[in-house]
Amino acid sequence: MSTQEKEKNTTVTDALAKLASLCKMRGFIFQSSEIYGGLGSCWDYGPLGVELKRNIKEHWWKSMTLRDDVEGLDSAILMAPRVWEASGHVENFTDPLVDCKNCKARFRADKAPKKDGKIICPDCASGNLTEARNFNLMFKTFMGPVEDSAATIYLRPETAQGIYVNFHNVATSMRKQIPFGIAQIGKAFRNEITPGQFIFRTREFEQMEMQFFGRPGEDEKWMETWKAARMEWQKSLGINPSKLRFHPHGPGELAHYAKAAFDIEYEFPFGWSEIEGVHNRTDFDLKRHQEYSKKNLQYVDLLNNNERYLPYIIETSAGADRTLLAVLADAFTEDTANERIVLKFHAHLAPVKVAILPLSKKPELEGVADKLFKDFQKTIVVQYDETGSIGKRYRRQDEIGTPFCLTIDFDTLNDKAVTVRHRDTMAQERIALDRVETYVTDKLKAWG
Ligand code: GAP
Repeated sequence: MSTQEKEKNTTVTDALAKLASLCKMRGFIFQSSEIYGGLGSCWDYGPLGVELKRNIKEHWWKSMTLRDDVEGLDSAILMAPRVWEASGHVENFTDPLVDCKNCKARFRADKAPKKDGKIICPDCASGNLTEARNFNLMFKTFMGPVEDSAATIYLRPETAQGIYVNFHNVATSMRKQIPFGIAQIGKAFRNEITPGQFIFRTREFEQMEMQFFGRPGEDEKWMETWKAARMEWQKSLGINPSKLRFHPHGPGELAHYAKAAFDIEYEFPFGWSEIEGVHNRTDFDLKRHQEYSKKNLQYVDLLNNNERYLPYIIETSAGADRTLLAVLADAFTEDTANERIVLKFHAHLAPVKVAILPLSKKPELEGVADKLFKDFQKTIVVQYDETGSIGKRYRRQDEIGTPFCLTIDFDTLNDKAVTVRHRDTMAQERIALDRVETYVTDKLKAWG
């Protein structure tokens, strides 16, 4: 590795390490099973992480289901094993696995560096490698008390299949006409060979997927519609638009089910990487489920002379954890001039919206602060902090991305007003106590 490459690697590792360390210190993300030495590539969301993730999922859910052509669903993680034969995952959901005979590292052949046209070990650069063999990424377990092959069952590697097998249930029960979509948020599991980059590639993660069912021949139109809609949604998270781009899949990259696919990529500290995929899955999945289940899955188009067909599907598939990592990385700001780290979240994602900071623990100030805290808490997540200097308290709130701090001081008792301190500009202004809730709520709603 050249000196330049080493320096770049160190910068990337440093940037991610700083983010991971802040996430741990401030209660966003912890290593899973930490007291037992940690479980590789599994992470737990702490009190602020869970709020942030819920805000992202809630924003996605509303954007998908508060419209009249998309319905919601929550299907089971465990599904009939035949589902995964039909979907092609048993046969095709594999990565080429290679072992280094020199240092025993195990890695993906398709992601390995090359020297003189041949792949080499990413750890020790040796060319002494085993042949690549296909490794299936699905986790297997057993249903019931007998652990034999008849009882083998899989943890779903994508939420999509739960939607396809319920297509008719949703269409019939909700009296939906094509075109329409079904949205779902849920856990997925993949036994990744090389997980890593903090929460970017993990073995357990959450997907936010929507499958849109349309008439054959209209798929390319819907693909364009959803591509544009999804990019707009990513921007609505407050992510810097210059760090978002589309990456079209070339023929070698397409998943077994896709006719065309575009990734939405974010420029992470470690480079441009996928956070969401928009796929034209054609009628591949419904055709296969029809074949394997022997059930007629055709849709009868009442609006088009009772025409019968298998709908074509456009899928939008975002990772909740990856989106969260992009949001965190984008918000992370080292404000050296003011010696602070700030998470500049968009207000609608910030886990804590307001902090109440009484300048002293004197009962007369605490009384005012406590009332404010309780009033705000009826509608938004608010923190109360009365320990440490006011400067330290501001820094703590900056590090968790709280948009507004409200300081109650001795002047409050006379002028019946509080100081509102703005996270990004650090500007401070005096707002009357009886107006401050409306003031802050309006500012949160109007956030750019
Ligand atoms: N249903 C289609 C599908 O699953 P995918 O491109 O394999 O497509 C979609 O995954 C999204 O799921 C990705 O863009 C990513 O955000 C997320 N994702 C996939 N594998 C992941 C992993 N190992 N860890 C975290 N997120 C992952």
